[in-house]
Formats: sequence, C-alpha cells, structure tokens
Amino acid sequence: MSKSVELAGLIKAQAGADPVRYGLILGSGLGHIAGAVDGVTIPYDKLSGFPHAGVSGHNPVLAVGDLEGQRVAVFGGRAHYYERGNPGEMRLPLEVLKELGAEAVILTNAAGSLRAEMPTGSIMALSDHINFSGLNPLIGETTDARFVPMGDAHDPELRAKLHAAARAEGVEMHEGVYAWYSGPSFETPAEIRAIRTLGADAVGMSTVPEVILARFMGMKALAISAITNMAAGMSDENIGHEHTKAMAPLGAAKLEQVLRRMLRDMG
Ligand code: HPA
Repeated sequence: MSKSVELAGLIKAQAGADPVRYGLILGSGLGHIAGAVDGVTIPYDKLSGFPHAGVSGHNPVLAVGDLEGQRVAVFGGRAHYYERGNPGEMRLPLEVLKELGAEAVILTNAAGSLRAEMPTGSIMALSDHINFSGLNPLIGETTDARFVPMGDAHDPELRAKLHAAARAEGVEMHEGVYAWYSGPSFETPAEIRAIRTLGADAVGMSTVPEVILARFMGMKALAISAITNMAAGMSDENIGHEHTKAMAPLGAAKLEQVLRRMLRDMG
C-alpha cells in the first residue's frame, strides 16, 4: 500500500470516509483558520512522513470536516523548500489530499508587494506565477505525467468565484503574478527590480511547488497572497519574519471572510 493510501485510511478512520471536496494550505500567520473547521484535528506528527512544518507562525495540524457547508481538509502549516532543500516537501500531504477525494486545493501565503498601489494588508489572487527559483518538485519523477502543462495552472473558474465572493463581501481583491524566491533570506532591492521587470507583482517563498504538484496530480489550484510588506527597496518598511507574522493578520481577516463566502456560495 502506498504511504498516501495508508495515511488517507488513517484519516478517514477518524474523520469519516465521505470525500473531501477542497483542500486548503495555509501560509505564515494564517494557520488559525484550521481551528474554524467543524470536525477532526490531527497533528502532523501523528501522520508519519508529513513535514514537521517547523517554521514559527504555522500551525502544523490537519483539520478535516465542515467549513461553511463544504467538506474540507485544512493543512494549518506547510513545509518550504528552504527548510531542507527539497522542493517536493509538500508532495505527500498533497497526495493524501488527492486520496481523500479533493478536486481542488486553495493555497494561501504571505508575500511582499511589488506594486505601490497594493500595500501591506492587501490580498491578491494569483493569476499566474514565475518560478524564479528554477527549482521543480517533479525533478526525478520518471513517468510522462511529469510534463505538466501549466497554461491554466491558476484555475480561471475558481478565480472568478473568488472574485465574486470578494465583491459580494465588499473586500478589495487584487490580482497578479507571484514570483517564487527560494528564501530563507529575503530578496535584495536589485532582485526585486529584476523580478518586477520580469512581470511579478508579489514575491514569496512558497506555493509555486505546491501548484505544480497539484496540477501533476490532476487537482485544480487557486492561490491567494496576504501582503505583509512592500518588497525590498520599495519602502523603508521593516522586512523580516517577525514583521511577516505581525502583519499577516491584516490580510488574513479579509482572506478568511472571502474564503468563507466562496465556500458558502459553492453550493
Ligand atoms: N519576500 C519573500 N517572502 C515574503 C516576503 C517578501 O518580501 N514577505 C512575506 N513573505
């Protein structure tokens, strides 16, 4: 039996066997949303092979149950490439999500803004991404499934539903391109100027490998950034992990409001 089938069996034994419809992976400072799920909560350390999600500001639990009338699996924390140098760090959790029946994964992250009109506290739907790191979680995969088309990686229909939910809630939802920078050091001002020239609107250290893995597994992907700072060199705002954690709640409150509305309106 594969590891993901085994873990999905263990989760179903606790949370019930009804298929999950959506997965949510929560970024820095956003992990509390796992606590809003009406269902079962399992710490990652009870799920053998799950990342230990050792970055402060994350909540390393899996919550499976009801959120706004939808059956969801919420991952309160993620592992990043910069923790251990493995871009496929989130492969097992995503395989388990697929095994639980999910059709789509909704990813959230904290990010720096490259647009003056998108200040700290804003939220941005990802229309697309730039893999600025050049890393790929599918390197080493041997099946032809590794040649994943990425033309509509950020699902247009889900994005339209997200924007409709934001409008209905009166919350401003920006849209733009996210660049994945490996981290854990932040970018230099010259790197920010370079990625702005390449077409990026926001920058962060996650999400892109998960979108690639989700598409590889045949799940749709929707990703949203909570802007926690202006990117390096764009303002004299402090940049650092403490600042990210302190500012994440500003966007997180809006993000939670919009995501709840979206789930409620999904029918
Ligand atoms: N750069 C990279 N990752 C981030 C940033 C940033 O400015 N802010 C939050 N996560």
